[in-house]
Amino acid sequence: MKNADFLTGITTSGTPHLGNYVGAIRPAVESSKNKDLVSYYFLADYHSLIKNFDPKLRKQSALEIAAAWIALGLDYDNCVFYRQSDIPEIPELTWILTSLTAKGLMNRAHAYKASVGENQEKGHNDPDKGITMGLFSYPVLMAADILMFNARKVPVGKDQVQHLEMTRDIAARFNHIYKKLFILPKVVVDETSSVLSGLDGRKMSKSYNNYIPLFDTQKRLRKMIMKIKTNSLGPEEPKDPDTCTIFSIFKAFATESETKNLEKRYRQGIAWGTAKQELFEYIDEILKEPREKYEELIKSPADIDEILKKGAVKAREFSAPFLEEIRKSIGIASLG
Ligand code: TRP
Repeated sequence: MKNADFLTGITTSGTPHLGNYVGAIRPAVESSKNKDLVSYYFLADYHSLIKNFDPKLRKQSALEIAAAWIALGLDYDNCVFYRQSDIPEIPELTWILTSLTAKGLMNRAHAYKASVGENQEKGHNDPDKGITMGLFSYPVLMAADILMFNARKVPVGKDQVQHLEMTRDIAARFNHIYKKLFILPKVVVDETSSVLSGLDGRKMSKSYNNYIPLFDTQKRLRKMIMKIKTNSLGPEEPKDPDTCTIFSIFKAFATESETKNLEKRYRQGIAWGTAKQELFEYIDEILKEPREKYEELIKSPADIDEILKKGAVKAREFSAPFLEEIRKSIGIASLG
């Protein structure tokens, strides 16, 4: 196996939604098919330990996310698709990296600082109240995910850019102290990832609970779309597409000429009900086939396990010998 041209992780919490599709799944599915690239995609189930303490939910979420990616066309034979927890080299590397990561670097992590800030706002004496070591050292585990496969490029959302800077920092430190083994990975920020709006007009996100699930029934998909917030303009009045959630979701899915056409109808005046119905029909058409596939997959988790097992075997073809090299460089080579 070759090192990763592209690598990205998906935290296994929650149910995949339209925003995930446009921001992460769709571009990943595209590059998974590219025969000239080696792409690694993994379920970051160890990362999910930090926020969620419910084993059943974690398992269900991992199943749903894996099924969604497969149903939407991930070329799992061409790329490397696996669970983080099936690669024992990752936690080993995490410790090696933890041992040379400056605590001060972790103190500056946005997620950690935000939790400390919340504690201070609430007036707690201990600024670290309720903060686990997992949350604190989250960026080191992420660095290990990436460096374990010497990934060149890491496509992520804007909120993850700092973690990539930290990864580069940690890699450079290792290279300096021991041996120049790690490539410094480059971050690729998908600008469209923050664009999809949710039901209330804010960014579609699990945390705002304003999302449209990818694989609900057709009936519920329609119901959700009908719930999108609009203003009180009458059916015949001209409308501004640029501030409209319905339009922005349509645009994320449709072709350029279809988008232009709808834009024209907005300016001429289109009833909200009509716009919503058309959005529903458009998305439903795209999701119809994947939805059937998804439902089948969810019913046969053993098939998903098989795919992930094969992925882990492929991933370990790279990580096992590379970890051995790393261990040698730090003076802990396996006993002969
Ligand atoms: N932290 C990322 C997120 O929340 C998920 C993730 C875990 C990841 N490990 C990674 C992304 C490695 C890219 C590379 O979105």
